[in-house]
Formats: sequence, C-alpha cells, structure tokens
Amino acid sequence: MTANGPENDRDRPATEGMGGSGFYDDHSQVQRGTVVGQAGRLRNAVRRLDLTTDELRVIDYGCGPGRNSMAAFHTVFAEVGNHRPDMPLVAVHNDQFGNDWNDLFANIRGPGGYLVDFPATRVEASVESFYDSVASGGAIDLGMSFMSVHWLNGAVHMPSPGTFFFCDLEEPARQELAARAAQDWTRFFAARAGELRSGGWLIVETLSSVPDADDPSGLLAAGRWNYRACYRVAETMADEGLIKRDLLDQYVFPVYFRNEQEARAPLEAGGDLADAFEVVEVANELYPTPHEETFEQDGDAAAYASAYVGYVRAYSESTLRAGLFEPSADSASEADVLTDTFYDRLEQLHRDEPGRHPSETQSMTLVLKRC
Ligand SMILES: C[S@@+](CC[C@H](N)C(=O)[O-])C[C@H]1O[C@@H](n2cnc3c(N)ncnc32)[C@H](O)[C@@H]1O
Repeated sequence: MTANGPENDRDRPATEGMGGSGFYDDHSQVQRGTVVGQAGRLRNAVRRLDLTTDELRVIDYGCGPGRNSMAAFHTVFAEVGNHRPDMPLVAVHNDQFGNDWNDLFANIRGPGGYLVDFPATRVEASVESFYDSVASGGAIDLGMSFMSVHWLNGAVHMPSPGTFFFCDLEEPARQELAARAAQDWTRFFAARAGELRSGGWLIVETLSSVPDADDPSGLLAAGRWNYRACYRVAETMADEGLIKRDLLDQYVFPVYFRNEQEARAPLEAGGDLADAFEVVEVANELYPTPHEETFEQDGDAAAYASAYVGYVRAYSESTLRAGLFEPSADSASEADVLTDTFYDRLEQLHRDEPGRHPSETQSMTLVLKRC
C-alpha cells in the first residue's frame, strides 16, 4: 500500500450518495441554509450574463436528492424572468450513479419544485463524476455547486492513527492529502473551464477552513468536533473488535476543507487555470447551526442528539459503510448492525455531552467568471 492507498482507491467514489428515500432531504437543514444564503450571488450572476442567447443552461454540480437545489434554480429562473421572460430554460442536474435520482425528480415535479413556476423548463440529468467533463464544451451559461466539491475524487487510505479527519493527520500524511486535494480541485475547475461558455459564471460553495491558532491543527476546519466525536465512537468499536483496527488506522474520511489560499491557488496568477477564470469573489462565512441553536433554546439533549446524528448520518453513512463497516463484516446484515451500532453510539455520545461537539459550518464560496 502506498501513501495514496490501494491502486483502486480512486476507482471507488468518496461517497455513493446521500441518504435516499427522503432521508437526506429531511436531515439537511444545514446544507439548505447555505444554499439559500447564495441567493444574492446567484441573482447578481444572472444580471451579468448575456441573456440574448437562444436558451439558458444552468447546471448544479453534486445536486444530491435535490430539495436544497430547488431554491437555487428557482432564484436563478426568477431573476432571468425579470430580464428576459421568454428565455427558454434548461436545468441540468449533475451527480453520481449512487445519487437518489427518484428523490430528485420527485422534488423537481413536487410542490417545491421549479416546474411549478417555470413549467416549460427542459430538465436534464448528467450522471457522471464532476471530476470529469459532465456537459458539452461551452454549453453551460451558469454553473453552481453547493456543499459538494469538498468530497475528494475517490476513497482515501493512508496512515492515520488517532484520527480520520484531514486536519488532524500527522505529517507527512497531512501534506500528502493536501497535495491530492489540490490536484482534485484543479481537475474540477479544468473540467468546468471546458463546459462554461466564455462570459459564463460559476458559483461554488464548499465546506472550508480558516486559521485558528487555538486548535491543535491550526485550523477551524468545518465540522472538526463532529469528526473527532465520530472517531471516538469508531475507536470504541475497534477496541471491542467490531471494526478492524488496521482498517481504521488507514482510513481517512474522504473530504478536504480548503482554506482560501488553497482555493485560490490554481485560479490566480501562476496557477494552471489563471487564464480560464476571473475570480470575482471569495467569501468565507460561518453559518449558524440549527441543532445547537435549538438546543440552546429548549435544552432537550435527546432531541438535539437525534437531530444532529440524523444530519451526520444523511451525508456520511454510505462512505463509512463502504470504508469501515462492510470490510469489517462477513455479511451485509452484519454491516447493517455495525452501521446502526455506530450511529446509536454517536447519538448516545451527543446525548451525554450535548453541545460539546458542535457542527461548525465554516463555508467558502467562490464566484468565478469564464474568460
Ligand atoms: C452533501 S451533498 C450536497 C447536495 C446538495 N448540493 C445540497 O446542497 O444539499 C454532496 C453531493 O455531492 C455529490 N458528489 C460527491 N462527489 C461527487 C462527484 N465526484 N461527482 C458528482 N457528484 C459528487 C454526492 O453524491 C452528493 O449528492
């Protein structure tokens, strides 16, 4: 095994998708808040687009089951309507095969879907990793992506004793992962450079990091306390022989929350894509977390733990199951038991220590214009 893990690491997606059958939609208020927070930037981008074209193609990269992206499409199409009510609209939804596409199409057609107000919209799905090209060259007018590009291009295995979170890795693993994340970031934007037409706009929001001298890692990395709490639970399961210790010692949750300097690097002078994009804005924002806010008001530790773990499970289950629980189990039903055990214990931990492992939603948004 190399520092980058088995050769097939990158063949296995970082996530098979979010919790399906409505589970992600019902447990993703945090993500919904960050999407809604982009409305001003989306309207601004639309106002600066060339709206004299034959049609307007808007894509959501890493759309997930879709309820959250309905608001974004609605905002964009309403703003287009303010300037060019007769503009033919095309909505493109990009995600991987494992996404719950049934949930997505139900959301598009449902009462919160954009078809209610924009029934003539042509709906397209693009089922492909956004680390490759997912649309025809120069076809996209406006690209957007929310809470998705921090997922790395494939699973990660590297020495990681005592943690599975990127910023707590020891050297040289931390630097090696940073280098791999930099390659992924450049690859994502290189693919977008091919798809956006000249003058097109791209708004990408991800979880991120800002400096924090008080944290041992030197960073306020989004979700740091959450990942540390998750690791504590995984460690108890390894201590009891429920999951394989050697697996846990090489397992890294496949996300990377970049800081502003890392995010800007390929896009600015000297970077591989400096000629492709103009960087219009980079914004760092710390979003309020609804679980902690509610707990502060009502003091209900059981409700807090249940809501918080629902949120964590909705985005992490397929990844932890594929990376830790299935390889530790002899059968699918045993993997089910391990999965439930993990989230039950996590909920117990949050019930016992409510508010002590908050899910800080440190977010970064890049607004780019295709040159
Ligand atoms: C946390 S969800 C965010 C979903 C939605 N954008 C939202 O804001 O609620 C992350 C999404 O990114 C998708 N994703 C992760 N890696 C991807 C890749 N390489 N290509 C396409 N989609 C990817 C996942 O399948 C998942 O649907």
